[in-house]
Amino acid sequence: MKIGILTGGGDCPGLNPAIRAVVKKSVKSGYEVIGIRDGWKGLIELNYKNLSSETASGILHLGGTILGTSRTNPFATADGPQKVIENIHRIGLDALVAIGGDDTLGVAYKLYGKGVNTIGIPKTIDNDLSATDFTFGFDSAVNIVMNALDNLHSTAESHHRVLVVEVMGRHAGWIATYGGLAGGADYILVPEKPFTIDEVCSSIKRRHSVGKTFSIIVVAEGAVLAEAEKIITKDIRKDAFGHAMLGGIGKFLCEEIEKKTGYECRDVVLGHLQRGGSPTAFDRILATRYGIAAVELIQKKDFGKMVALRGNQIVAVSLEEGIKRSKTIDMDIYEIASTFFG
Ligand code: F6P
Repeated sequence: MKIGILTGGGDCPGLNPAIRAVVKKSVKSGYEVIGIRDGWKGLIELNYKNLSSETASGILHLGGTILGTSRTNPFATADGPQKVIENIHRIGLDALVAIGGDDTLGVAYKLYGKGVNTIGIPKTIDNDLSATDFTFGFDSAVNIVMNALDNLHSTAESHHRVLVVEVMGRHAGWIATYGGLAGGADYILVPEKPFTIDEVCSSIKRRHSVGKTFSIIVVAEGAVLAEAEKIITKDIRKDAFGHAMLGGIGKFLCEEIEKKTGYECRDVVLGHLQRGGSPTAFDRILATRYGIAAVELIQKKDFGKMVALRGNQIVAVSLEEGIKRSKTIDMDIYEIASTFFG
């Protein structure tokens, strides 16, 4: 049995622990493992390397992916899917493990429909895949946001400033809500709940009226300003899956708050810091469990599946269910976070 493995889309902490688990479990089962470089791009360009137990050693604590990644979409060109399928046959792959978010797993699902034995492993710092309670990468990102907010508190307080912290999250405010809750944000703006500048300013003023001299506002990059009825972004470029490159809402909000309240304001964009560094223990364990479960599905020849976390159980769902809809935030958690708003 020859198993291919690739990582696609935005990188995140936990990819290497997942690769390590797939490789070690496969080798123990007597399978050969081929690492495809840079996501689906590697299957278009026939760029791959053999992975042994040794190459997958010592990577548990490393962020990023030893295989490289890209946002390549083989279905964006007419001959892309055929090229990928031909190359899968050329390498002689019996099964392919795709580690990714909705875009990468969407490609895995379409290829499964064309006869490729795919298995999906869900990852993304955004935690927006509906069939699983958590994707790995999310907990690491939340910890990075929490640590940043801890650091920003002292400078905000010393200078009596409002700090607007922009975090990732295109369609879902998971990072903003969990990171903001863990880091004691004074207001959190998420894509699920369009906001007005006035509501944010009133909240800051209420805090000031009870003696606070600083505020920390967390805003997801995909947060929607109700007045504008669209996402505010400084970039007009789109990626191969048609997603707009987000970013810019924090700066905009900062300027508006300063104008409307007269409080001195600064914006901080956490950006790709949220995707870097070592995975947390939670993400290492989740990624490892996913990797082992993916190989077990291959052993059972149960293809077209995605491994998922439900409660504390790892289960298998169809890839179709895995990518069907985006998972927006749990409003109960947002309500808890809002208890601490001004
Ligand atoms: O999909 C994960 C994510 O980190 C999003 O939160 C963010 O909008 C996007 O990737 C950024 O992508 P890139 O690394 O291509 O700029």
